[in-house]
Amino acid sequence: MQGSTKRFLDAIIFDLDGVLTDTAEYHFQAWKRLADEEGIPFTREDNEHLRGVSRRESLLLLLKGRTLTEDQMVEWMDRKNGYYREMIHNVSSADLLPGAIPLLNEIRSAGLKIAIASASRNAQDVMNGLGIMDYVDALIDGNQIARAKPAPDLFVEAAHALDIPPGRCAVVEDALAGIEAANAAGMLAIALGPEERFGGAANLVVPDLSSLHLSNITHAATWRVVEDHFDPERQRTYESMLTQGNGYLGTRATFEERNPGDQQATMVHGLWDDAPIVFTELVNSPDWTDLAITVNGQRFSMQAAGISDYVRALDLRTGVLFRRLRWQPKESDIVLDLYFSRLPSLADPHAMAVNVRVDCVRGSADLNITTSLNAHIDNTGLLHLHVIEQVSDAEIAFVLVETRTSQKRLAMAMHTTTSDHETVISENDCPGCPGQRIRAHLNQGEALTVDKIVTVYTSRDTDQPLQAARSSVRQVAAEGSTILLANTSAWEEFWRDADVIIEGDDESQLAIRHAVYQLRIAASSTDEYVSIAAKTLSGFGYRGHAFWDTDIFILPFFIFTQPRIARNMLMYRWHTFEGARRNAQQQGFRGARFAWESAETGDEVTPPWVADPKDPHKLIRIWPGDIELHITADVAYAIWQYWQVTSDDEFMRDYGVPMILETAVYWADRAEPEGDHYSIRDVIGPDEYHDHVDNNVYTNWLVRWHLLKALELRDWLYQQDSEKAKALDKQLGLDEEAFAQWVDIADRLVILQDPQIALFEQFEGFFKRKEVNWPDYENRTKSMQLILGIEGANEHQVLKQPDVIILLCLFRDQFDPQTWQSNWDYYILRTDHSYGSSLGPAIHAWAAAEMGLLDAAYEHFLRAARTDLMDIRGNTAEGVHGASMGGLWQAVVFGFAGLRVKDGTYSTSPRLPAPWKRLTFHFYLRGERQTVDLHQEPVPSTTSNNTAGSTR
Ligand code: BG6
Ligand code: MG
Repeated sequence: MQGSTKRFLDAIIFDLDGVLTDTAEYHFQAWKRLADEEGIPFTREDNEHLRGVSRRESLLLLLKGRTLTEDQMVEWMDRKNGYYREMIHNVSSADLLPGAIPLLNEIRSAGLKIAIASASRNAQDVMNGLGIMDYVDALIDGNQIARAKPAPDLFVEAAHALDIPPGRCAVVEDALAGIEAANAAGMLAIALGPEERFGGAANLVVPDLSSLHLSNITHAATWRVVEDHFDPERQRTYESMLTQGNGYLGTRATFEERNPGDQQATMVHGLWDDAPIVFTELVNSPDWTDLAITVNGQRFSMQAAGISDYVRALDLRTGVLFRRLRWQPKESDIVLDLYFSRLPSLADPHAMAVNVRVDCVRGSADLNITTSLNAHIDNTGLLHLHVIEQVSDAEIAFVLVETRTSQKRLAMAMHTTTSDHETVISENDCPGCPGQRIRAHLNQGEALTVDKIVTVYTSRDTDQPLQAARSSVRQVAAEGSTILLANTSAWEEFWRDADVIIEGDDESQLAIRHAVYQLRIAASSTDEYVSIAAKTLSGFGYRGHAFWDTDIFILPFFIFTQPRIARNMLMYRWHTFEGARRNAQQQGFRGARFAWESAETGDEVTPPWVADPKDPHKLIRIWPGDIELHITADVAYAIWQYWQVTSDDEFMRDYGVPMILETAVYWADRAEPEGDHYSIRDVIGPDEYHDHVDNNVYTNWLVRWHLLKALELRDWLYQQDSEKAKALDKQLGLDEEAFAQWVDIADRLVILQDPQIALFEQFEGFFKRKEVNWPDYENRTKSMQLILGIEGANEHQVLKQPDVIILLCLFRDQFDPQTWQSNWDYYILRTDHSYGSSLGPAIHAWAAAEMGLLDAAYEHFLRAARTDLMDIRGNTAEGVHGASMGGLWQAVVFGFAGLRVKDGTYSTSPRLPAPWKRLTFHFYLRGERQTVDLHQEPVPSTTSNNTAGSTR
């Protein structure tokens, strides 16, 4: 099996002193000798602060406030340098630190470039002495740069010399100043030394070089999603991919200063408003990131000339989005370094922070910065909000908006402060975007930092959203860096439970972490009235509506790692159950039917008509809202799975069983008696290329399961609480006759399967449809439905996504190997893998892993992993693919690890793709935290207490 060859780093930049050789010790000895001569106390501890910093800065630190004339300074520095040079005179390869040569060799043979970036002016001599110049592609030293660490210049220069963008470089450093410089350059920061020295600033800390391998470095890069160069054509894709959030809101990664053609959006859960065609949609909320910079009259934007060293990175570990670039405004001698970082806090979901720093590297600049809460926003052209009230003064601003039809209110408040330089701040009460205006004059070497804190509340949170936002913004601002610290520890806590570690395959590792991050930020930790939309909170696609994506694809991740959130998501189905009742009623059936697309009320909100992508003057009838019925059983399946894993009896008793029974009533009414059997006609199965089909196997199988489970659960409820069970029977009109009918339907519902070869027929007549000649379409760039047309696809045996195969996965232990094999063989060849549904690849990966087809499993897995990170379907711009992300987690955990839960115990049957050396993850089983740690070597299956061996 060929492993993924995708890598996220092209160069490793090494600091020299203290990293490759212990000349850091010589620097100390030299300063110590000087200090002793001058009678200045100087200890090893004092020396810690001198690590990595320039000669002059070192002297100033050593002087601890004592003053010298410039001539004395020069004489002292020369003297120290003399001592130092005496010591390095005899430097040889024997002075290389252990591990240096093996690591350099490893990097070279992997084809990555190597640079040395040292603040020392003696670096070339030391390198010559060490005899390792042949290993390096570039050497940048203290003679070539003006600004010492923690400025990023040394490393950025090294990246220039290597011709590699900063975002694709890692730095290995022993000094805090160097780690800060690497961070400032937007590079991956690898620290050598004790953890305490780096205060959490590094991406990875190891004690010394001998414990560092290239694989540790590249694995550390899997916590960052990096945009290493600015490509205007791909901005909307990155806006989705780098979406940040905290489960209360999601914000697309548009730039603070905006960019033509971008699609700014902040989606707040539950903020629905009416919309034509799609009934209702999540409303785009005011842009809290808004901040514009003008320098000597020139407005900064990514369109401006003179931008270099661009890098943007989303740190999945902390949820912080960072951007760095250098800007030289045209026709000026000004050079500025701009840094932007922002975060919605996971610890306080109502709080966000934006931090912008401007460093004047050269020239002098008149800065004019405006920062606001910008309510001039829309939902792809549709205006939902009007401003009720706005205020701004020199520190605080707020805006209160209301949705036009649903009359929900949202308030945002912001607080702006500046530091590092004198500024004049004034109010900027622009209509619809209140905020502040900041003026400052920066000379060379000066910097300005702007901190913006924003809080947000809606009328769903409190009756007084404005008061809540205003009072909390002051508090959050007064607490200073608490917002960062609390956010970091909230994420730490989350990752302790939710991280999936894949060693040996960085692409898979990054993809699963990105998926887990995006899933987490889509889910409210407290709100039972909201769910997760198909595109999460990351874009306008599907308008914030929830599909079966949530219950079948996304929910398992939460059930296993964040059961409390999973419960909320199922409670959403309960709180919208009235809508489900209406959906059944409207089609003349009893019971309750979940909406194919669900929003605030649970009523069906699938748009019945949409514009034809081929001809916008034509409308196409969209049928899932009428006949894609399986979602009703999918939700029952999700409830059951939640209960199996959590044993939350209280939920099952009060909400789960009532929902499963009332939806069973719908199925009993919907199933059509036909002589000696029952049919369910005129439906759409998971494979939406075929509509108006009869007896879809997936649907019927789930209906049968649903009815039998309903009976089982009704008995369970009776035992738990007979009064409640009787009351429910009464409410739903259930009696022995009704139960007997459920059994009868379950017994005699059509399941189309060839008894000889165990092949299911996806629906009646599927096998009679025309075959596609696949070689004709090998190099296509669009879906088979677009190529063949809606009718054309319908007439062919071509699947948009797994239908029978997902059924095999969901009920995996009920099928024998022959059933798996026949159905896999048949359907896998007839599926539109590349441009059909994004829901497919992860499920195919899981299925193939079940069957031990590891090459195929890995191929499908990578296709799922690349859905958003490489935008291989070309539609990430509309938002990330939540179901694919949830499916990716299932492919890893259920597929490759083979995790199964049964009767309160679990087992694994690992079958890891060849490149994976190790797979580790955690989950909760009945409230107990479990750890699964699997290695590529054939090891016996792990099993929780008191089960005997693995189930397979
Ligand atoms: C860095 C060292 O590499 O170079 C510092 O870590 C030192 O301790 C700096 O001050 C400057 O070195 P030099 O040799 O130019 O004085
Ligand atoms: Mg050093």
